[in-house]
Amino acid sequence: MSNAVVLQGVGRLGSAILEGWLLTGAVDPKDLIILTPSEKPVAEKARALGAQINPALDALAHAKAFVIGVKPAKWVEAAQPILQHLNPEAVIVSVMAGVPEVTISAGFGGRRVVRVMPTTGVAQGKGVASLWSSDQAAMNIGLSLFEPIAETAVLTSEDLMHAATAVSGCGPAYYFAFTRALAQAGVAEGLPEDVAVKLARATLRSAAAGVVGDESLDALIDRVASPGGVTQAGLVVLNENGALDRPVKGAVKAAVDKSTELSA
Ligand SMILES: NC(=O)c1ccc[n+]([C@@H]2O[C@H](COP(=O)([O-])OP(=O)(O)OC[C@H]3O[C@@H](n4cnc5c(N)ncnc54)[C@H](OP(=O)(O)O)[C@@H]3O)[C@@H](O)[C@H]2O)c1
Repeated sequence: MSNAVVLQGVGRLGSAILEGWLLTGAVDPKDLIILTPSEKPVAEKARALGAQINPALDALAHAKAFVIGVKPAKWVEAAQPILQHLNPEAVIVSVMAGVPEVTISAGFGGRRVVRVMPTTGVAQGKGVASLWSSDQAAMNIGLSLFEPIAETAVLTSEDLMHAATAVSGCGPAYYFAFTRALAQAGVAEGLPEDVAVKLARATLRSAAAGVVGDESLDALIDRVASPGGVTQAGLVVLNENGALDRPVKGAVKAAVDKSTELSA
C-alpha cells in the first residue's frame, strides 16, 4: 500500500482540511489525490506542490485512505464511479454528519471506516475533531490525518458522535450567540453599538487565547473573577438558579436530538 490519501470533495470542510494538511505537512502533497467536480483555489495550491487532481481512477488502487468530504445526500452517488478502482484495504475516513459506520462500510464494499467530526479550525491547524471507529487500524489512520491539524477526542461509542457534534461542531455558534448577547447587554448599558460589538468580539478572541494548557475551567474563571469583585457580581446573576446551565443543556440536548433524527 502507498501513502496516497484521496480527498473527495473540496467544499467548506474539505478545503479547510486540505489547508490544514498543507500548512502542517500532515500529508505530503505528492501523496494527495483530490477528486473535485470544480476548480478550487486550495486544490490548485496543492497541485502546485505535487498533488494529483482528478487523475485516472486507477491511481486509487494503492490508496491507504479515502476521505469523504461530500454532503451526506451525495456520498452514495459520488462513491459509485470510484468503488471498483479503490484499494480494498483503503480506510474510509468519513467527516459526514450523521451517517453511521455500518452504512458507510456497506456502501464501500465492507472497507474499514473511521468517522471524524472536525471543525473548520483545522484550516489553521487549530481544529477540534472527535473520532469513532470499531477498528483500531482505521482509528490510527484517522488520528494520523487529524492529530496534526486538530485537538482530537477518541469516543468510546458511536452514539456519542451526536453529543460530540453538539458540543464542538455546534459550539462555535453558541459562543457567537453569547457574544452577540454580551454586545447587546453593553448597548443596554450605554455603549455605542459599534463599540459594544467590537469589545465583545475582541473579548471572545482574547478569552480563547487564554485557554492554554490543562488549566481547569474553574481556574480560568477564578483568574478573572476575584471574590466580591465586579466580575463575581455578574457571575452570580448569570447562573442564578441554573439560569445559564439550563438553556445551555437544553441547546445541546436539542442539537443531539436533531442529529439523532437526521441520522435515523
Ligand atoms: N462545514 C462544516 O463545518 C462541517 C463540519 C463537520 C462535518 N461536515 C461534513 O462535511 C461534509 C461536507 O460539508 P461542507 O460543508 O464542506 O459541504 P460543501 O461546502 O457543500 O462541500 C461539498 C463538496 O462536495 C463536492 N462534491 C459534490 N459531488 C462530488 C463528487 N461526486 N465528487 C467530488 N466532490 C463532490 C462539491 O463540489 P462543488 O463545489 O464542485 O459542487 C462541494 O465542494 C458533509 O458531509 C458535512 O456533514 C461539515
